[in-house]
Amino acid sequence: MKISQRVQALTTSPIRRLSPYAAAAKAKGKKVYHLNIGQPDIETPELFMDSIRKFDEKVIAYSNSKGEECLVDAISKYYKEWDMPFEPADIYVTNGGSEALRFAVLALCDPGDEILVFEPFYANYNSFARENNVIIKAIPTSVENGYHLPEEKVIEAAITPKTRAILLTNPSNPTGVVYSKEEMEIIARLVCKYDLGLISDEVYREFVYDGKYISFGTMPEVLDNLIIIDSVSKRYSACGARIGCIISKNAQFQQQILKCCQARLCSPILEQVGATALYSTPTSYLDAVNKEYKKRRDTIKAALEKLPGVTSSNPKGAFYLMVKLPVDDAEKFAIWLLESFDVNGETVMFAPGNGFYSTPGCGIDEARLAYVLKCEDIEKAIAILGEGLKVYPGRK
Ligand SMILES: Cc1ncc(COP(=O)(O)O)c(C=O)c1O
Repeated sequence: MKISQRVQALTTSPIRRLSPYAAAAKAKGKKVYHLNIGQPDIETPELFMDSIRKFDEKVIAYSNSKGEECLVDAISKYYKEWDMPFEPADIYVTNGGSEALRFAVLALCDPGDEILVFEPFYANYNSFARENNVIIKAIPTSVENGYHLPEEKVIEAAITPKTRAILLTNPSNPTGVVYSKEEMEIIARLVCKYDLGLISDEVYREFVYDGKYISFGTMPEVLDNLIIIDSVSKRYSACGARIGCIISKNAQFQQQILKCCQARLCSPILEQVGATALYSTPTSYLDAVNKEYKKRRDTIKAALEKLPGVTSSNPKGAFYLMVKLPVDDAEKFAIWLLESFDVNGETVMFAPGNGFYSTPGCGIDEARLAYVLKCEDIEKAIAILGEGLKVYPGRK
């Protein structure tokens, strides 16, 4: 049996590929602090399971391809509360933000087309592009300027006749950057000038710790080119529900998305019932969660600042940050921490930075840390990282 070149060109997830090393460490009795994966430890609102328990149909039937009407209505209402004019007709429910991203790439690009992305970026964008033979054209950003966008002329110079879309994550995974109004205006101008798709991945919209969040959905000039990617995974700590959505006011685009939705039949019905209820979660829940993450952000920043030779940015949103480590290769260091190191039986796991780049050779000495643990555990995990750095044989 022949295996396709396309699938062989996909890379393994930097977030998950060291899991066998973590499993082996645990099998030897080590405790592993997981800073590698964005799986929040915050409890999912009880509304989710309560509404599923009340589900009283005799058959778990297929649901509507576009999404259950009650869920689509709840999402539309949520957007109107954010002053974004998205009607139920503009919203299609997907199996997580991940499926929404795949549909967006499929609907905008033919093989050989290009999508502009700011590097470092969410690692799975590489797979969503490669599985469609689409090229990610990465524009570098750096820790020195907090991973903010380069000047307009630099971005414009990267646009070619093959460019179909600009893909932004705001707030960003993995850097935590939140874009300013001025940066968003640059993107809006370029998108309109070259008639590109603007894929705005806003799954971390609620997680902003300094200043106010602005969505492209509030900028009328881009609405015809805008595709918003959203999800309940992070907002309501419901990653396993696999419910997201793709939103656009461009009816021609959405007609194509409907075909994608029909081909996979539907999203799971019970999870849609639960997700509908999540949209009635009181804002006090999100306020409390936001406060907790802000505390965690401050804790991890303060802990990292104590480590000699480690450089990190100042994340303003999401729950990640990138760090530059004084090591030969962050992936080797991560494996060494799991295989050969512990402090009183405890060690730490992070995601190697190279997987968040598509430019070969970039991110080798970087790591992405997810601050999804309680503050005490973050402090312990970073202290262990610091102890490991003192004795790691590949220290620079
Ligand atoms: C930036 C970004 N977009 C999309 C996703 C996909 O989320 P999900 O498919 O769980 O909605 C993630 C998950 O970590 C993410 O970090």
